[in-house]
Amino acid sequence: MASTSVPSTRLARRLRDVAPTVFAEMSALAVRTGSLNLGQGFPDAEGPSPVLDVAVAALRGGRNQYAPGPGVPELREAIAEHQARHYGIELDPAAEVVVTAGATEAVAAAVLAFVNPGDEMVVLEPYYDSYVACIEMAGGVRRPVTLRAPDYRLDVAALEAAVTERTTSILLNTPHNPTGSVLTRAELEEVARVAQRHDLLVVTDEVYEHLLFDGRSHVPMATLPGMWDRTVTISSAGKTFSFTGWKVGWVTGPPDLVASVLSAKQWLTFTNAAPLQPAVAHALRHEAAFYDALAHELQDKRDLLVAGLRELDLDVFEPEATYFVTSDVRAYGYEDSRAFCLTLPERAGVVAIPAQGFYDDHEEGRHKVRWAFCKDTAVLEDAVRRLQAADLRA
Ligand SMILES: Cc1ncc(COP(=O)(O)O)c(C=O)c1O
Repeated sequence: MASTSVPSTRLARRLRDVAPTVFAEMSALAVRTGSLNLGQGFPDAEGPSPVLDVAVAALRGGRNQYAPGPGVPELREAIAEHQARHYGIELDPAAEVVVTAGATEAVAAAVLAFVNPGDEMVVLEPYYDSYVACIEMAGGVRRPVTLRAPDYRLDVAALEAAVTERTTSILLNTPHNPTGSVLTRAELEEVARVAQRHDLLVVTDEVYEHLLFDGRSHVPMATLPGMWDRTVTISSAGKTFSFTGWKVGWVTGPPDLVASVLSAKQWLTFTNAAPLQPAVAHALRHEAAFYDALAHELQDKRDLLVAGLRELDLDVFEPEATYFVTSDVRAYGYEDSRAFCLTLPERAGVVAIPAQGFYDDHEEGRHKVRWAFCKDTAVLEDAVRRLQAADLRA
């Protein structure tokens, strides 16, 4: 159950301006009102059953004490094999791979490892909300570059303009949550050019690397010419294998950057999920068919939800990847997506996420709503029916 308490006045200044995560609030609202939850990005369906068997065997087989800080060797090896198989990236599992408590800890450890107080980090907005909190906790300054509706492409001039003499890094996310856009190779080349010109580190969150649609394929930033030495890549089993609750993620990159991330990570969780790590190793080695099929299923679900939202006359960008579609709710007379989302459970029995909290550019973000389509088809059909039957006008 989400806490309704207000933090103490003793709360450190660096956390005072960071809003509580909206996902917990909206999932609690869904439970309280018995609504369909198209808010938080977790799938209704389980991950592959053989992977569960490996986890159970590990639980029963005595693998319940601390795993090594960088992760169990078989998982680090499986991550290296995965990077080689999909992207031709050859990694030394002993030095170039670290397992983390989900991508969330990987982002936190990377930001704490590389951002000094006062350093500026360029971030694509709308952002995954933990980025803001992590940069604040590190004492850094975020420099947003806005992906703008209707097509959410990278504005290269805005990227150039965001870099100052205090900028030390870029935090990238592709495929991108919440817009569902995928940076093209040309866009990645622009990021690479800016990073190299200004000697910036790139931390790249690629948790949706396998969930692309319409035949698109993922291009890791680390594979661009000249980028390997300055890129820290983050991914996770959560989205790829529909095990979001397991919180098993990883960081890959050159030894000095990975060792730096480990310097921070060892003081966060030190290690996590010992019996789940061999199961994720098994998944990476044997369950590629799962994520290939998942991408196709998600594409069909995207089509269903996008069509339903378009029938409601909501302005929608068709996502190229991920679990999410974003719409503009001004057609219904709302200037404020939070007000729209708070009334939605009562009016339609559906929960969605106000995207305004993911923007510093209030004008661009205030009327955007994010809907998750990683749900059972019957749930999506029901949600569309409910939305179509409801009076959604302000
Ligand atoms: C872009 C992005 N990064 C990171 C995460 C968190 O990943 P994990 O659950 O592995 O911590 C999410 C989850 O929604 C996400 O969308």
